[in-house]
Amino acid sequence: MSKLPIGILGSGKGSNCRAILGKIRIGELAAEARLVISDVLDAPILDIAREFSVPNAYLPPGHFRTRLEPQVEEELVRILRSAGVELVVLAGFMRVLKTPMLEAFPRRIINIHPSLLPKFTGLEAWKQALAAGEKVTGCTVHHVDDKIDHGEIIAQREVPILPNDTAESLHERIQMAERKLYPDVIRQFCETFGEKASFVVRES
Ligand code: GRF
Repeated sequence: MSKLPIGILGSGKGSNCRAILGKIRIGELAAEARLVISDVLDAPILDIAREFSVPNAYLPPGHFRTRLEPQVEEELVRILRSAGVELVVLAGFMRVLKTPMLEAFPRRIINIHPSLLPKFTGLEAWKQALAAGEKVTGCTVHHVDDKIDHGEIIAQREVPILPNDTAESLHERIQMAERKLYPDVIRQFCETFGEKASFVVRES
């Protein structure tokens, strides 16, 4: 079965990236990580890429805070395309993607978020769930559109909120669930890719 070429984008510690690269290494994911890219120069996710010998790059984001400068986003498209990436995996990437990426990779950009979307978008979603008195929260993998933590939901995993939970303990359990859910979803994309030659319809 042909392996799905993926590109991982992240801004932070990279625990999801590590989980994905680990599954690839042990042969539990028929994917090939072509690139890890970060908008943060010293992000640990880049160290993880190096640890797994995956090509990696810092992409200077430009002067906007919540998105990439348009020329930078165009450059990102070129980099991912020339690496042959077919699925873009956002793993803690803290910027909203816009038209260049969304048009270049239609329904081929996915994100993971630490809540049961559509509940609790934005930052520190586990704290929001705790403050709202929820009994259950979890994590969601979804297609990416131009809104924050929005787009068609692909899969979710529930995490119960325990009576003695602190923000830290809850966050830790959600992240454990993420490290299972994200590779499982990517596996589904790998299977589709292995079966169909026309996985991505490209306009050049
Ligand atoms: C994850 O909790 C994910 O849900 C959110 O950003 C966090 C990234 O964590 N989008 P990590 O960098 O993968 O450890």
